Amino acid sequence: MSLIEKSGTFALGSDTVKRLGYGAMQLAGPGVFGPPKDPAAARAVLRLAVASGVNHIDTSDFYGPHVTNNLIREALHPYPDDLVIVTKIGARRGADGAWLPAFSAAELTQAVHDNLRNLRLEVLDVVNLRIMFEPHGLAEGPIEAPLTALAELQRQGLVRHIGLSNVTATQIAEGRRLCEIVCVQNQYNVAHRMDDALVDELARDGIAYVPYFPLGGFSPLQSSTLSGVAERLGATPMQVALAWLLRRAPNILTIPGTSSEAHLKENLAAAELRLPDEAVTALNGVAETGGV
Ligand SMILES: NC(=O)c1ccc[n+]([C@@H]2O[C@H](COP(=O)([O-])OP(=O)(O)OC[C@H]3O[C@@H](n4cnc5c(N)ncnc54)[C@H](OP(=O)(O)O)[C@@H]3O)[C@@H](O)[C@H]2O)c1
Repeated sequence: MSLIEKSGTFALGSDTVKRLGYGAMQLAGPGVFGPPKDPAAARAVLRLAVASGVNHIDTSDFYGPHVTNNLIREALHPYPDDLVIVTKIGARRGADGAWLPAFSAAELTQAVHDNLRNLRLEVLDVVNLRIMFEPHGLAEGPIEAPLTALAELQRQGLVRHIGLSNVTATQIAEGRRLCEIVCVQNQYNVAHRMDDALVDELARDGIAYVPYFPLGGFSPLQSSTLSGVAERLGATPMQVALAWLLRRAPNILTIPGTSSEAHLKENLAAAELRLPDEAVTALNGVAETGGV
């Protein structure tokens, strides 16, 4: 049994994945734009992830753009049978690296074909529609048109399952009336808990919740509570942040991102970390929006 099996598993569409996965965004160059300084090192991180038992990788063709998907193909194709690669569409990059919406049916169709080609797949396991009314935050607005376009690509057999990213509860409800939604990917971590109620609602319905920025994103989490708990448990703050997510709800699938083999090993070792109740109580105090 690989160490990370201790993190447990959860259904992601028709597959079951380990709850400790890997987010590939950090493998692109600075600002998630352009290639990394050392592509061979990036490929080594991906190979180590899979060799360590990771079977859920999160990516997008707008990371780079195309950079992380190309690295994944180069490092891992032909893919292990149990590997679930989740991608996302709905955005594109400007010439200056800006994150721009790409919501038209033509852009979404092009994005699915780009992902298929760059990942060298016949069908994409899971595609998240990344809502871009606000590029770096949530904003209400109808999602029927782009989701209908994505559902059409699913009907054509190019996409197995559909998820939503950067969405409000209202948009998820709208989406679920249109097609089956297997996962939601929003910003969430021990210090950022706006989605607490949503996590529980999705857990009740068996839908995976995949927090992005599980470690705080571009500015990794810093908190004296996190550090204190880590010190008491002989762990690192990032391991505690991941163990808290794994403990928070059974439908949470974690995709911590790193460009470093050492950080990857550290993060995957969080599978073995069990938080005592008093640690969870302390960590619940870190959040901006109160505890569960
Ligand atoms: N749907 C969306 O809108 C959206 C948005 C953002 C991200 N995502 C997805 O979510 C995944 C996770 O988010 P993320 O990668 O942006 O952020 P993250 O996982 O919260 O944190 C990544 C950052 O933490 C550092 N880090 C990782 N492990 C560490 C460790 N053990 N000790 C110290 N620092 C560590 C990384 O630097 P090093 O490289 O130096 O380790 C990197 O700077 C992404 O890879 C991407 O697939 C989705």
